[in-house]
Amino acid sequence: MDRDSAEPTVDGMPGERAQEWADYHHQFSAPSTYVYDFVWDFTEEAIGPFCTDIDGNVLMDFTSHVAAAPLGYNNPKIMEKFDEFDLVDPTKIAGQDFYAAGGWPPEDPELPGPTQLMDRLTDLTSHYDMDTVFLSNSGAEAVENAIKICYAQGGHRAFTFDGAFHGRTLGALSLNRSKVNHRKGYPEIGGVVSVPYPSTQEAYEKQWLTDGPGGNVLADKLDPEQGVIAPEEVAYLIIEPVQGEGGYRVPHDGFVSDLAEIRERFDVNVVADEIQSGLGRTGEMWAVDHLDLDPDVITSAKGLRAGATVANSDMFPKEKARLSSTWGAGKIVDSMQGVFTIDAIHEYDLLDNVAERGRQMRELLEDADLPNAIDVRGRGLMLAVEFDTKERREAVVKAALKRGLLVLGCGYKTLRLLPPLDVTEREIELALDVFQSAVEEVA
Ligand SMILES: Cc1ncc(COP(=O)(O)O)c(C=O)c1O
Repeated sequence: MDRDSAEPTVDGMPGERAQEWADYHHQFSAPSTYVYDFVWDFTEEAIGPFCTDIDGNVLMDFTSHVAAAPLGYNNPKIMEKFDEFDLVDPTKIAGQDFYAAGGWPPEDPELPGPTQLMDRLTDLTSHYDMDTVFLSNSGAEAVENAIKICYAQGGHRAFTFDGAFHGRTLGALSLNRSKVNHRKGYPEIGGVVSVPYPSTQEAYEKQWLTDGPGGNVLADKLDPEQGVIAPEEVAYLIIEPVQGEGGYRVPHDGFVSDLAEIRERFDVNVVADEIQSGLGRTGEMWAVDHLDLDPDVITSAKGLRAGATVANSDMFPKEKARLSSTWGAGKIVDSMQGVFTIDAIHEYDLLDNVAERGRQMRELLEDADLPNAIDVRGRGLMLAVEFDTKERREAVVKAALKRGLLVLGCGYKTLRLLPPLDVTEREIELALDVFQSAVEEVA
Protein backbone atom coordinates (compact mmCIF):
# COMPACT_ATOMS: atom_id res chain seq x y z
CA MET A 1 0.00 0.00 0.00
CA ASP A 2 1.38 3.40 -0.97
CA ARG A 3 0.58 5.99 1.67
CA ASP A 4 0.81 8.86 -0.83
CA SER A 5 -1.94 7.52 -3.05
CA ALA A 6 -4.04 5.29 -0.73
CA GLU A 7 -7.74 6.09 -0.39
CA PRO A 8 -10.58 4.49 1.50
CA THR A 9 -12.18 1.77 -0.67
CA VAL A 10 -15.17 0.14 0.87
CA ASP A 11 -17.41 -2.59 -0.40
CA GLY A 12 -20.04 -2.63 2.33
CA MET A 13 -19.30 -1.95 6.01
CA PRO A 14 -19.40 -3.97 8.11
CA GLY A 15 -18.69 -6.79 5.68
CA GLU A 16 -19.88 -10.38 6.11
CA ARG A 17 -16.61 -11.62 7.54
CA ALA A 18 -16.45 -8.78 10.04
CA GLN A 19 -19.89 -9.64 11.31
CA GLU A 20 -19.03 -13.33 11.55
CA TRP A 21 -15.74 -12.52 13.28
CA ALA A 22 -17.49 -10.29 15.82
CA ASP A 23 -20.14 -12.97 16.52
CA TYR A 24 -17.42 -15.60 17.06
CA HIS A 25 -15.44 -13.22 19.28
CA HIS A 26 -18.48 -12.59 21.46
CA GLN A 27 -18.93 -16.29 22.16
CA PHE A 28 -15.94 -15.90 24.46
CA SER A 29 -15.57 -12.24 25.22
CA ALA A 30 -17.15 -10.42 28.16
CA PRO A 31 -19.15 -7.36 27.13
CA SER A 32 -16.93 -4.29 26.87
CA THR A 33 -17.01 -1.02 24.98
CA TYR A 34 -17.20 -2.38 21.42
CA VAL A 35 -18.04 0.53 19.15
CA TYR A 36 -18.65 -1.10 15.76
CA ASP A 37 -17.99 -4.33 13.86
CA PHE A 38 -14.75 -3.05 12.34
CA VAL A 39 -12.21 -5.90 12.39
CA TRP A 40 -8.65 -4.89 11.56
CA ASP A 41 -6.80 -7.66 9.69
CA PHE A 42 -3.23 -7.35 10.89
CA THR A 43 -1.99 -9.81 8.29
CA GLU A 44 -2.95 -7.35 5.53
CA GLU A 45 -1.44 -4.05 4.42
CA ALA A 46 -1.66 -0.95 6.57
CA ILE A 47 0.27 2.33 6.65
CA GLY A 48 -0.27 5.66 8.42
CA PRO A 49 -4.01 6.11 8.91
CA PHE A 50 -4.86 3.47 6.29
CA CYS A 51 -5.63 -0.13 7.28
CA THR A 52 -7.31 -3.15 5.77
CA ASP A 53 -10.22 -4.94 7.44
CA ILE A 54 -11.04 -8.64 7.39
CA ASP A 55 -13.27 -8.18 4.29
CA GLY A 56 -10.52 -6.42 2.34
CA ASN A 57 -11.97 -2.92 2.78
CA VAL A 58 -9.40 -0.13 3.07
CA LEU A 59 -10.31 2.34 5.79
CA MET A 60 -8.89 5.56 7.20
CA ASP A 61 -8.49 5.30 10.95
CA PHE A 62 -9.07 8.68 12.58
CA THR A 63 -9.22 7.14 16.05
CA SER A 64 -5.55 6.00 16.27
CA HIS A 65 -6.84 3.19 18.49
CA VAL A 66 -8.14 5.84 20.91
CA ALA A 67 -4.76 7.60 20.92
CA ALA A 68 -2.95 4.32 21.63
CA ALA A 69 -1.28 4.21 18.18
CA PRO A 70 0.00 7.78 17.88
CA LEU A 71 2.09 7.10 14.77
CA GLY A 72 -0.64 5.17 12.96
CA TYR A 73 -0.12 1.75 11.36
CA ASN A 74 3.32 0.27 10.57
CA ASN A 75 5.09 3.58 10.77
CA PRO A 76 8.52 3.13 9.10
CA LYS A 77 10.06 5.18 11.88
CA ILE A 78 9.08 2.41 14.30
CA MET A 79 9.25 -0.59 11.98
CA GLU A 80 12.80 -0.03 10.74
CA LYS A 81 14.00 0.11 14.34
CA PHE A 82 12.03 -3.01 15.22
CA ASP A 83 13.89 -4.82 12.45
CA GLU A 84 17.00 -4.69 14.61
CA PHE A 85 15.25 -6.63 17.38
CA ASP A 86 15.21 -10.43 17.28
CA LEU A 87 12.20 -11.51 19.29
CA VAL A 88 13.23 -13.24 22.52
CA ASP A 89 11.29 -15.15 25.11
CA PRO A 90 10.39 -13.84 27.60
CA THR A 91 9.56 -10.40 26.19
CA LYS A 92 7.13 -9.81 29.00
CA ILE A 93 9.39 -9.84 32.03
CA ALA A 94 9.11 -9.21 35.75
CA GLY A 95 10.72 -5.86 35.16
CA GLN A 96 10.04 -4.30 38.55
CA ASP A 97 12.07 -7.04 40.19
CA PHE A 98 14.77 -7.66 37.57
CA TYR A 99 16.63 -5.31 35.24
CA ALA A 100 16.90 -5.88 31.48
CA ALA A 101 19.49 -4.33 29.18
CA GLY A 102 19.43 -4.09 25.38
CA GLY A 103 23.24 -4.01 25.27
CA TRP A 104 25.76 -1.53 26.65
CA PRO A 105 26.12 1.31 27.82
CA PRO A 106 22.93 2.26 29.76
CA GLU A 107 22.98 5.84 28.36
CA ASP A 108 22.95 4.57 24.77
CA PRO A 109 22.46 0.82 24.41
CA GLU A 110 21.97 -1.03 21.13
CA LEU A 111 18.24 -1.22 21.81
CA PRO A 112 16.23 0.74 24.38
CA GLY A 113 14.08 -0.86 27.10
CA PRO A 114 12.29 0.14 30.32
CA THR A 115 15.35 2.03 31.69
CA GLN A 116 15.54 4.25 28.59
CA LEU A 117 11.77 4.80 28.61
CA MET A 118 12.05 6.18 32.15
CA ASP A 119 15.05 8.25 31.12
CA ARG A 120 13.10 9.77 28.20
CA LEU A 121 10.08 10.47 30.42
CA THR A 122 12.14 12.35 32.99
CA ASP A 123 13.61 14.46 30.16
CA LEU A 124 10.11 15.29 28.98
CA THR A 125 8.98 16.35 32.46
CA SER A 126 12.13 18.00 33.85
CA HIS A 127 10.53 21.46 33.46
CA TYR A 128 8.12 20.34 36.21
CA ASP A 129 11.03 19.16 38.35
CA MET A 130 10.05 15.53 37.81
CA ASP A 131 12.86 13.00 37.86
CA THR A 132 11.31 9.66 38.80
CA VAL A 133 9.01 7.18 37.05
CA PHE A 134 6.96 4.18 38.08
CA LEU A 135 6.06 2.07 35.06
CA SER A 136 2.91 -0.02 34.94
CA ASN A 137 0.71 -1.73 32.35
CA SER A 138 -2.20 0.59 31.66
CA GLY A 139 -3.68 4.02 32.11
CA ALA A 140 -5.80 2.96 35.06
CA GLU A 141 -2.71 1.61 36.83
CA ALA A 142 -0.82 4.82 36.12
CA VAL A 143 -3.67 6.69 37.83
CA GLU A 144 -3.85 4.21 40.73
CA ASN A 145 -0.17 4.73 41.42
CA ALA A 146 -0.45 8.50 41.05
CA ILE A 147 -3.17 8.68 43.68
CA LYS A 148 -1.36 6.19 45.92
CA ILE A 149 1.76 8.35 46.04
CA CYS A 150 -0.38 11.40 46.81
CA TYR A 151 -2.28 9.60 49.60
CA ALA A 152 1.08 8.43 50.96
CA GLN A 153 1.98 12.11 51.45
CA GLY A 154 -1.03 12.58 53.75
CA GLY A 155 -4.69 13.51 53.38
CA HIS A 156 -7.66 11.32 52.54
CA ARG A 157 -9.73 13.71 50.44
CA ALA A 158 -9.43 14.50 46.74
CA PHE A 159 -10.94 16.66 44.02
CA THR A 160 -12.02 15.53 40.59
CA PHE A 161 -14.01 17.34 37.89
CA ASP A 162 -17.42 16.95 36.31
CA GLY A 163 -16.92 15.14 32.99
CA ALA A 164 -13.74 13.37 34.18
CA PHE A 165 -12.54 9.92 33.14
CA HIS A 166 -9.53 8.30 34.76
CA GLY A 167 -9.93 4.53 34.25
CA ARG A 168 -11.88 1.51 35.41
CA THR A 169 -10.07 0.01 38.39
CA LEU A 170 -11.83 0.72 41.68
CA GLY A 171 -9.56 3.58 42.71
CA ALA A 172 -9.50 5.23 39.29
CA LEU A 173 -13.23 4.79 38.71
CA SER A 174 -13.95 6.65 41.95
CA LEU A 175 -12.66 9.74 40.15
CA ASN A 176 -14.88 9.34 37.07
CA ARG A 177 -17.70 11.77 36.45
CA SER A 178 -18.49 11.25 32.77
CA LYS A 179 -20.90 8.27 32.50
CA VAL A 180 -23.05 6.59 35.11
CA ASN A 181 -22.07 3.04 34.03
CA HIS A 182 -18.45 3.61 35.01
CA ARG A 183 -19.34 3.71 38.72
CA LYS A 184 -22.84 2.31 39.11
CA GLY A 185 -22.97 -0.27 41.93
CA TYR A 186 -19.19 -0.42 42.42
CA PRO A 187 -17.57 0.51 45.74
CA GLU A 188 -15.53 3.69 45.63
CA ILE A 189 -12.75 5.47 47.46
CA GLY A 190 -14.33 7.88 49.95
CA GLY A 191 -13.60 11.57 50.22
CA VAL A 192 -13.66 12.39 46.49
CA VAL A 193 -15.46 15.64 45.76
CA SER A 194 -16.30 16.77 42.22
CA VAL A 195 -16.44 20.35 41.02
CA PRO A 196 -17.28 21.85 37.60
CA TYR A 197 -14.77 21.96 34.73
CA PRO A 198 -15.73 25.18 32.92
CA SER A 199 -14.60 25.38 29.31
CA THR A 200 -16.40 28.54 28.19
CA GLN A 201 -16.58 32.06 29.58
CA GLU A 202 -20.26 31.57 30.33
CA ALA A 203 -19.63 28.32 32.24
CA TYR A 204 -16.69 29.88 34.05
CA GLU A 205 -18.82 32.75 35.28
CA LYS A 206 -21.87 30.64 36.05
CA GLN A 207 -20.44 27.41 37.46
CA TRP A 208 -17.12 28.39 38.89
CA LEU A 209 -17.05 31.97 40.12
CA THR A 210 -19.00 32.65 43.28
CA ASP A 211 -19.28 35.52 45.70
CA GLY A 212 -17.68 33.35 48.38
CA PRO A 213 -14.49 34.17 50.24
CA GLY A 214 -12.07 32.67 47.73
CA GLY A 215 -14.15 33.69 44.74
CA ASN A 216 -14.76 30.23 43.25
CA VAL A 217 -16.39 26.93 44.12
CA LEU A 218 -13.17 25.11 44.94
CA ALA A 219 -11.43 27.82 46.95
CA ASP A 220 -14.65 28.38 48.91
CA LYS A 221 -14.68 24.76 50.02
CA LEU A 222 -11.08 25.03 51.23
CA ASP A 223 -11.33 28.43 52.91
CA PRO A 224 -9.91 28.01 56.45
CA GLU A 225 -12.66 30.12 58.01
CA GLN A 226 -15.79 29.48 56.02
CA GLY A 227 -14.92 26.36 54.01
CA VAL A 228 -16.05 22.77 54.59
CA ILE A 229 -12.85 20.85 53.80
CA ALA A 230 -9.57 21.22 55.68
CA PRO A 231 -6.86 21.84 53.05
CA GLU A 232 -4.38 19.60 54.90
CA GLU A 233 -6.77 16.68 54.39
CA VAL A 234 -6.61 17.03 50.59
CA ALA A 235 -4.24 14.49 49.06
CA TYR A 236 -4.61 15.67 45.44
CA LEU A 237 -6.65 17.22 42.70
CA ILE A 238 -6.74 15.28 39.42
CA ILE A 239 -7.38 16.94 36.08
CA GLU A 240 -7.37 16.02 32.39
CA PRO A 241 -5.72 19.03 30.68
CA VAL A 242 -8.16 18.37 27.83
CA GLN A 243 -11.07 16.15 28.87
CA GLY A 244 -11.22 12.95 26.79
CA GLU A 245 -14.25 10.72 27.45
CA GLY A 246 -16.03 13.80 28.80
CA GLY A 247 -16.19 15.33 25.31
CA TYR A 248 -12.84 16.86 24.31
CA ARG A 249 -13.39 19.90 26.47
CA VAL A 250 -10.58 22.45 26.83
CA PRO A 251 -10.41 24.19 30.22
CA HIS A 252 -11.12 27.92 30.40
CA ASP A 253 -7.98 30.00 31.06
CA GLY A 254 -9.44 31.74 34.11
CA PHE A 255 -10.34 28.39 35.64
CA VAL A 256 -6.80 27.15 35.05
CA SER A 257 -5.19 30.18 36.71
CA ASP A 258 -7.57 29.76 39.66
CA LEU A 259 -6.38 26.15 39.96
CA ALA A 260 -2.76 27.30 39.87
CA GLU A 261 -3.50 29.74 42.66
CA ILE A 262 -5.33 27.09 44.72
CA ARG A 263 -2.37 24.73 44.28
CA GLU A 264 -0.03 27.38 45.72
CA ARG A 265 -2.32 28.71 48.40
CA PHE A 266 -3.48 25.39 49.85
CA ASP A 267 -0.47 23.26 48.89
CA VAL A 268 -2.58 20.76 46.97
CA ASN A 269 -0.87 18.19 44.71
CA VAL A 270 -2.06 18.44 41.12
CA VAL A 271 -2.15 15.24 39.06
CA ALA A 272 -2.32 15.87 35.31
CA ASP A 273 -3.87 12.84 33.62
CA GLU A 274 -2.20 12.86 30.19
CA ILE A 275 -3.22 9.34 29.25
CA GLN A 276 -5.25 10.51 26.25
CA SER A 277 -3.96 14.07 25.78
CA GLY A 278 -0.22 13.50 26.24
CA LEU A 279 2.70 12.55 23.97
CA GLY A 280 2.22 15.27 21.42
CA ARG A 281 -1.49 14.80 20.72
CA THR A 282 -2.29 18.49 21.33
CA GLY A 283 0.83 20.01 19.71
CA GLU A 284 2.84 20.17 22.95
CA MET A 285 4.39 17.08 24.49
CA TRP A 286 1.88 17.32 27.35
CA ALA A 287 -1.46 19.08 27.08
CA VAL A 288 -0.73 20.69 30.45
CA ASP A 289 2.21 22.48 28.73
CA HIS A 290 -0.43 24.73 27.10
CA LEU A 291 -1.70 25.72 30.54
CA ASP A 292 -0.43 28.07 33.17
CA LEU A 293 -0.47 25.26 35.74
CA ASP A 294 2.41 23.17 37.06
CA PRO A 295 1.47 19.56 37.79
CA ASP A 296 3.08 17.59 40.63
CA VAL A 297 2.40 14.22 39.00
CA ILE A 298 1.85 13.25 35.36
CA THR A 299 0.18 10.03 34.26
CA SER A 300 0.82 8.69 30.79
CA ALA A 301 -0.18 5.50 28.92
CA LYS A 302 -1.90 4.73 25.60
CA GLY A 303 0.62 6.13 23.05
CA LEU A 304 3.43 5.30 25.45
CA ARG A 305 2.37 1.59 25.19
CA ALA A 306 3.05 1.26 28.93
CA GLY A 307 1.57 3.01 31.95
CA ALA A 308 3.74 5.64 33.65
CA THR A 309 3.43 7.69 36.81
CA VAL A 310 5.97 10.50 36.77
CA ALA A 311 6.84 12.90 39.62
CA ASN A 312 9.68 14.26 41.70
CA SER A 313 11.46 11.56 43.75
CA ASP A 314 10.19 13.26 46.95
CA MET A 315 6.68 12.21 46.00
CA PHE A 316 7.42 8.48 46.00
CA PRO A 317 7.26 6.38 49.20
CA LYS A 318 10.74 5.27 50.20
CA GLU A 319 9.90 1.91 51.79
CA LYS A 320 10.13 -1.22 49.67
CA ALA A 321 6.99 -2.78 48.20
CA ARG A 322 4.73 0.26 48.64
CA LEU A 323 4.52 0.27 44.84
CA SER A 324 5.17 -2.78 42.72
CA SER A 325 3.88 -4.81 39.78
CA THR A 326 5.25 -8.00 38.28
CA TRP A 327 4.96 -6.81 34.69
CA GLY A 328 4.97 -3.09 35.43
CA ALA A 329 8.16 -2.21 33.62
CA GLY A 330 8.38 -5.54 32.00
CA LYS A 331 7.23 -5.56 28.41
CA ILE A 332 10.47 -5.06 26.52
CA VAL A 333 8.69 -4.45 23.20
CA ASP A 334 6.28 -1.93 24.75
CA SER A 335 9.07 0.05 26.35
CA MET A 336 11.02 -0.01 23.12
CA GLN A 337 8.00 1.20 21.17
CA GLY A 338 7.45 3.96 23.74
CA VAL A 339 11.04 5.15 23.32
CA PHE A 340 10.83 4.98 19.50
CA THR A 341 7.59 6.97 19.60
CA ILE A 342 9.13 9.72 21.75
CA ASP A 343 12.23 9.78 19.54
CA ALA A 344 10.13 9.97 16.37
CA ILE A 345 8.15 12.90 17.79
CA HIS A 346 11.45 14.79 18.27
CA GLU A 347 13.25 13.61 15.17
CA TYR A 348 10.42 14.33 12.73
CA ASP A 349 9.14 17.55 14.37
CA LEU A 350 5.78 15.97 14.94
CA LEU A 351 4.72 18.62 17.47
CA ASP A 352 4.88 21.18 14.64
CA ASN A 353 3.00 18.82 12.34
CA VAL A 354 0.29 18.34 14.97
CA ALA A 355 -0.10 22.09 15.38
CA GLU A 356 -0.24 22.71 11.63
CA ARG A 357 -2.48 19.80 10.67
CA GLY A 358 -4.64 20.52 13.72
CA ARG A 359 -5.18 24.07 12.43
CA GLN A 360 -5.98 22.72 8.96
CA MET A 361 -8.49 20.20 10.27
CA ARG A 362 -10.15 22.72 12.56
CA GLU A 363 -10.48 25.29 9.75
CA LEU A 364 -11.94 22.70 7.39
CA LEU A 365 -14.44 21.60 10.05
CA GLU A 366 -15.44 25.17 10.81
CA ASP A 367 -15.65 26.25 7.17
CA ALA A 368 -17.68 23.17 6.20
CA ASP A 369 -20.67 24.62 8.03
CA LEU A 370 -21.69 21.08 8.98
CA PRO A 371 -25.44 20.71 9.36
CA ASN A 372 -26.57 20.02 12.97
CA ALA A 373 -23.05 20.48 14.36
CA ILE A 374 -23.21 22.86 17.31
CA ASP A 375 -19.52 23.08 18.24
CA VAL A 376 -16.03 22.31 16.96
CA ARG A 377 -13.40 22.17 19.70
CA GLY A 378 -10.23 20.60 21.03
CA ARG A 379 -6.51 21.18 20.72
CA GLY A 380 -3.98 20.09 18.07
CA LEU A 381 -5.04 16.73 16.67
CA MET A 382 -7.42 16.07 19.56
CA LEU A 383 -10.48 17.59 17.88
CA ALA A 384 -14.19 17.03 18.25
CA VAL A 385 -17.52 17.99 16.74
CA GLU A 386 -20.56 18.22 18.96
CA PHE A 387 -23.94 17.47 17.36
CA ASP A 388 -27.42 18.54 18.39
CA THR A 389 -28.43 15.05 19.53
CA LYS A 390 -26.81 11.78 20.55
CA GLU A 391 -28.76 9.95 17.81
CA ARG A 392 -27.30 12.28 15.19
CA ARG A 393 -23.76 11.71 16.48
CA GLU A 394 -24.25 7.95 16.36
CA ALA A 395 -25.70 8.10 12.87
CA VAL A 396 -22.68 10.12 11.70
CA VAL A 397 -20.23 7.58 13.20
CA LYS A 398 -22.06 4.84 11.23
CA ALA A 399 -22.31 6.84 8.00
CA ALA A 400 -18.58 7.65 8.17
CA LEU A 401 -17.76 3.97 8.74
CA LYS A 402 -19.84 2.99 5.71
CA ARG A 403 -17.66 5.36 3.67
CA GLY A 404 -14.41 4.02 5.13
CA LEU A 405 -13.64 6.53 7.88
CA LEU A 406 -13.30 5.42 11.49
CA VAL A 407 -14.28 8.03 14.08
CA LEU A 408 -15.38 7.66 17.69
CA GLY A 409 -17.95 9.16 20.01
CA CYS A 410 -17.11 10.90 23.28
CA GLY A 411 -19.12 12.91 25.81
CA TYR A 412 -22.88 12.68 25.30
CA LYS A 413 -23.32 13.80 21.69
CA THR A 414 -19.79 14.59 20.57
CA LEU A 415 -17.61 12.82 18.03
CA ARG A 416 -13.80 12.80 18.20
CA LEU A 417 -11.24 12.87 15.42
CA LEU A 418 -7.72 11.85 16.33
CA PRO A 419 -5.55 10.97 13.35
CA PRO A 420 -1.91 9.88 13.66
CA LEU A 421 0.51 12.61 14.72
CA ASP A 422 2.25 12.47 11.32
CA VAL A 423 -0.97 12.80 9.31
CA THR A 424 -0.48 14.66 6.04
CA GLU A 425 -2.36 17.55 4.44
CA ARG A 426 -3.76 15.20 1.78
CA GLU A 427 -5.00 12.72 4.39
CA ILE A 428 -6.80 15.42 6.37
CA GLU A 429 -8.51 16.67 3.19
CA LEU A 430 -9.47 13.15 2.18
CA ALA A 431 -10.89 12.25 5.58
CA LEU A 432 -12.77 15.51 5.91
CA ASP A 433 -14.41 15.05 2.50
CA VAL A 434 -15.66 11.66 3.68
CA PHE A 435 -16.72 13.12 7.01
CA GLN A 436 -18.61 15.99 5.42
CA SER A 437 -20.53 13.70 3.10
CA ALA A 438 -21.41 11.44 6.09
CA VAL A 439 -22.73 14.42 8.06
CA GLU A 440 -24.71 15.64 5.05
CA GLU A 441 -26.23 12.23 4.40
CA VAL A 442 -27.38 12.02 8.01
CA ALA A 443 -28.84 15.54 7.82
C1 LIG B 1 -7.75 10.40 30.50
C2 LIG B 1 -7.73 8.92 30.70
N1 LIG B 1 -7.30 8.41 31.87
C3 LIG B 1 -7.25 7.08 32.08
C4 LIG B 1 -7.65 6.18 31.12
C5 LIG B 1 -7.59 4.70 31.39
O1 LIG B 1 -6.64 4.08 30.59
P1 LIG B 1 -6.67 2.49 30.37
O2 LIG B 1 -7.87 2.17 29.55
O3 LIG B 1 -5.37 2.18 29.69
O4 LIG B 1 -6.73 1.86 31.73
C6 LIG B 1 -8.12 6.66 29.89
C7 LIG B 1 -8.59 5.73 28.85
O5 LIG B 1 -9.34 6.08 27.94
C8 LIG B 1 -8.16 8.06 29.67
O6 LIG B 1 -8.61 8.58 28.52
